[in-house]
Amino acid sequence: MKILHSVRSVQKLTSQIRSEGKVIGFVPTMGYLHEGHLSLMRTARKKCNYLFVSIFVNPTQFGPNEDFSKYPRDFRRDRLLCEKEKVDFIFFPDSEKMYPENYSTYVEVHNITEILEGSHRPRHFRGVATIVLKLFNIIQPDFAVFGQKDAQQVAVIRKMVSDLNVNTKIIVNPTVREEDGLAMSSRNVYLNGKQRKDASVLYKALKYAERKILTPGYNRDLGFIKEQMGKLIKSRPTVTGVDYISFNREDNLQEVTSLKNFKKGRLLISLAVRFGKIRLIDNIVVSVNL
Ligand code: PAJ
Repeated sequence: MKILHSVRSVQKLTSQIRSEGKVIGFVPTMGYLHEGHLSLMRTARKKCNYLFVSIFVNPTQFGPNEDFSKYPRDFRRDRLLCEKEKVDFIFFPDSEKMYPENYSTYVEVHNITEILEGSHRPRHFRGVATIVLKLFNIIQPDFAVFGQKDAQQVAVIRKMVSDLNVNTKIIVNPTVREEDGLAMSSRNVYLNGKQRKDASVLYKALKYAERKILTPGYNRDLGFIKEQMGKLIKSRPTVTGVDYISFNREDNLQEVTSLKNFKKGRLLISLAVRFGKIRLIDNIVVSVNL
């Protein structure tokens, strides 16, 4: 496994690989790797000749009051984990190389970035789309693997790839969870014992909604289900706020307010909840066929 820091060295290498007709797979990450990240690597490993992983805590996707400087980092450990997953190359650039002085180009994906996460983190998806396009341009992968954990991120990347004719296939892997259902996240290390215990309520609330929606003959009132989910979540003492609980079409993220207008299709149920300063997101997708 090789670690590459410079954009030029990656571009030289990948054009060589491509000229040999070999397949390049890519998993972008911000490091502090866990089983969720590793599952993406395993999926990618099976489908490519050369597997690239990037580790870069991208400053442009953090808001001014967010946790950029405190975001957990442990390159040594990440490197060992990548080695175990038979990664061929880690791209580990410096911030100054990705965003030199006078950097001025950003990618904005309209209509699906203003809602859900975007309404609470205004510049977040502009930063995500920009860094992902930069990484795609540097590595030029045949495919890249993303996690369902960040469902809106997937929708934004898919839209960007389609609108800007990017020649990279997007593959999505299911969310990897802890035994009690909590979605794995690098941010879970911030949780204290009580918060960690309470955090399992997020998946419970999502599964409650799924059960209700799929129960034949049940009064499928989404407003009522949302209210019940909110009550369940707020019953945990360390919960300090619910930013949103939302039902949306999975493909274009249009809000679904009633199942009367959504009899068939994939329904995304997503939420963001605060435990003190720690903000966790989660989602599930329900196949509706009424
Ligand atoms: P990061 O949060 O490090 O996540 C990297 C990838 O791992 C993303 O595709 C994310 O959805 C996926 N992932 C995280 N937790 C997961 C879990 N529990 N199960 C399955 N997949 C999971 O997402 C980012 O970084 C950044 O926004 C990035 C795309 C790298 C751009 O900076």
